[in-house]
Amino acid sequence: MEIMKRPDSMARINNTELAEAFIEEQIAEIKAQVGSKKVLLALSGGVDSSVVAALLIKAIGKQLICVHVNHGLMRKGESEAVIDTFRGELDANLIYVDATDRFLDLLAGVSEPEKKRKIIGAEFINVFADEARKLQGVSYLAQGTIYPDILESIKQAEGKKAVKSHHNVGGLPEDLQFELVEPIKFLYKDEVRVVGEALGLPHAMVYRQPFPGPGLGVRCLGAITRDRLHALREADAILRDEFEISGLSEKVWQYFIAVPDIKSVGVKDESRYEGWPAIIRAVNTKDAMSATIEEIPYDILHKITYRITHEVEGINRVLLDLTPKPIGTIEWE
Ligand code: XMP
Repeated sequence: MEIMKRPDSMARINNTELAEAFIEEQIAEIKAQVGSKKVLLALSGGVDSSVVAALLIKAIGKQLICVHVNHGLMRKGESEAVIDTFRGELDANLIYVDATDRFLDLLAGVSEPEKKRKIIGAEFINVFADEARKLQGVSYLAQGTIYPDILESIKQAEGKKAVKSHHNVGGLPEDLQFELVEPIKFLYKDEVRVVGEALGLPHAMVYRQPFPGPGLGVRCLGAITRDRLHALREADAILRDEFEISGLSEKVWQYFIAVPDIKSVGVKDESRYEGWPAIIRAVNTKDAMSATIEEIPYDILHKITYRITHEVEGINRVLLDLTPKPIGTIEWE
């Protein structure tokens, strides 16, 4: 398969004027490509799929059908934010699927990271395909493919090994073959954000830190259990909250909590209290290929530690990961 390259003549989109010109151009292209047919989109709430959704809503309105699959591995409040923005503000045609049980049942007892990723990726396609089959007359599938994804495919086509398997909805089953609509496939991430702002998407959505497709699934280390996943989600929400309050969210590229499947002894209310540790990971990077550690002031670390150990059931320690990439990858799995 021939992989398309970004045209050399394409200017770097770094201001509103260029973004608006890009939007107008894409609206015309999308209209010309799909006419009056229906388009389906898996809307995760990440910046790429959100920008594609907003572009398509502008171009074809309710001909776009967005499907938001909650795999039960979203961060706290994330699915609700997708519904609020797209249904509430943009009046999108949005189908919300809570598939938590399907995913967590399949993942029960599975501890090997790549196996977890494969299960999540495959089940995501199954759930999405089930929704697609319920719909009539859909001809197109829109995807938030961006230029780094294409560059990664080129690298793999040249025989270089991927470090981790990422997933998107490309590999749908035979009975569901759609023509693709990929309006941002030649954009770099910074350009996607400029276009997102020009489309009027909320700042928090456009500048949302990257979140892996398998979500909290690769941060609830080892075999996922519902209680540890719940503790991870709550601890992660506290970390995000404190990073917002202190302004660190503007300085740190990606920050999150990972919770390993080990317990240590603690003490609470004068009794033995066994719990999991919450590991803080906060990194800065330009391209996610390498990453450095941002210094976090001790007063903020103390506050986060206090809140997590007092507010989250099952967590009795907070640890800070000081490992750059390489040698550590950004995610623990
Ligand atoms: P690593 O852990 O490889 O992560 O240093 C680099 C960046 O990629 C994200 N990441 C993923 N994104 N599916 C994704 O869509 C995945 O399976 C996945 N694994 C890692 C990670 O969050 C970081 O931004």
